Amino acid sequence: MTDRLLRGRLLTFHAEPQGPDDTGAYSYIEDGALVIGGGVIRAAGTYAAMTAQAPDMPVTDHRPHLMMAGFIDPHIHFPQGQVIASWGAQLLDWLNTYTFPEETRFADPDHAARMATLFLDQLTDHGTTTVAAYASVHLTSAEALFAAAARRDMRIIAGKVMMDRNAPEGLRDTALTGYDESKALIGRWHGKGRALYAITPRFAITSTPGQLEVAGALVIEQPGCYLQTHLSENHDEIAYTASLYPDSPDYLGVYERYGLLSPRALMGHCLHLSPREIGVMAETGARPVFCPTSNLFLGSGLFDDAGLRAAGLVNAIATDVGGGTSYSMLQTLHEGYKVLQLQGQNLHPLRAFHWITRGNAIALGLEDRIGTLAEGSEADIVVLDARATDAMALRMARAETLSEELFILQIMGDDRAVVQTYVAGEPQKTGFVSTT
Ligand code: GUN
Ligand code: ZN
Repeated sequence: MTDRLLRGRLLTFHAEPQGPDDTGAYSYIEDGALVIGGGVIRAAGTYAAMTAQAPDMPVTDHRPHLMMAGFIDPHIHFPQGQVIASWGAQLLDWLNTYTFPEETRFADPDHAARMATLFLDQLTDHGTTTVAAYASVHLTSAEALFAAAARRDMRIIAGKVMMDRNAPEGLRDTALTGYDESKALIGRWHGKGRALYAITPRFAITSTPGQLEVAGALVIEQPGCYLQTHLSENHDEIAYTASLYPDSPDYLGVYERYGLLSPRALMGHCLHLSPREIGVMAETGARPVFCPTSNLFLGSGLFDDAGLRAAGLVNAIATDVGGGTSYSMLQTLHEGYKVLQLQGQNLHPLRAFHWITRGNAIALGLEDRIGTLAEGSEADIVVLDARATDAMALRMARAETLSEELFILQIMGDDRAVVQTYVAGEPQKTGFVSTT
C-alpha cells in the first residue's frame, strides 16, 4: 500500500503515567495525523505539520475518534474460542471437562486453519494487534496460527503447548517430541517476518520433570525465544503441583530448577505467590501476567498488582481467553479495575491505556517496535469511539477531559468502540468508509 495519512485525535505514551496529572507521560494531539507506509509509522504530529510535509498524500479521516497504538494481549489461548463461557467449574475441572476435550479438535489441520482465521479476526475486531498465544499440543495448530498471522503481516508470539502427562490421549506429546516439534517450529517461524516463538510448557502439572528439562534446554539453545507458562493460579493446582514435585520449595521453584525464568518468561496469573517466589521473580525478571476476566470467572483469586510492582516486578495484563471471558482489552481493563478496587488499589485510565499498549510492550521487550505511535514504530493502530453505544454517548455528553473519555472506554467499551484496527498499516475492519 502506498503511504497514507491517518487523521484523528492522537494519543501515545512515552512513560507510565504516575497519576491523573502526569501530562508529561503522554502526547495528545487534538487534530493529529500519522504518516504510515511500508508497515511503519513514518511521522506523527499535528495534521497541519503532516500535510505540509506530504501535501499530496491520501488521507483517511478518523476524526473525531481517538487513535492510539494497537492493544497487546500477552496471554491468550488460540484453541479456546469455543470454550469461553463454560459453566460452573474452577481451574482443574474446567480444564478436564471443557478445555482439554476442545483442544483435541485442533489435531485436525483444517479445523486449526479455519479457527486461526476466525481467531485473528476476533483479535483485530477488538483492537488487539499483538498476542502471545498458546496453540494446542499439536504442531499443526501452531503452524496454522503462524501462517494465518503471516498472511496479514501481524506481529505474533506463539508456541505449541508442551504437555506429556495428566491430559487425555490425543493431547499429550512426549519430552522428546515436545522438544523436536518446538525446535522445528522455531526454525520455521521464529524471527520470520513479525513472528516470534514462545517455548510453551503448559504448566507443571501437565509436564514431567523430563519435559521441563528439555524446555530448559530449548531456553538455553534459543535465547531469542520467549517462555510462557502458568503459575500459581488456583489453590488446588498449587497443592497438586506440590504433590508432583515434592522436592521443590514451592510452585515457582519447579520452573526455577529447570532454568525457565528470565525477563522473557511470561508467567500467567501469579495470584498466590509466597515472598520467596516474589523474590525469585524479581531476581530473574520473569513477568507476571494479570488475567482479570479469567481470575474472576474461574474464581481463582485477586492479583496483587501494587504488591508485585512494589517488589520490582514488571506486570503485564491479558485476556486469557477462554478462561478469560472476552477478547476485549477494554473489558479486561474494566475487570482489572474491579479486581484492584477489591484490594484498595486503583487503576487510573491513563495508566490503564498505557498498560495495554506501551506497558505490555515493555513486558515483552518490544517497546521499540510496538505499543506507541512513535516514528519508526510498526503501524499497528486502533481507532476508538467513546460514543459507540447510546449509553456511552449519553455518558460522554457529561465528560470534559481526556481521562474521563478514557475511563468511559475502559468501563463501558468493547469491540463496538473499535472503529478500525490497522495491522502493519493495513485496515482490518471492513465497512469503514474513509472521507477522502
Ligand atoms: N493452566 C493450565 N492450562 C491453563 C489454561 O488453559 N487456562 C488457564 N486459565 N489456566 C491454565
Ligand atoms: Zn492461560
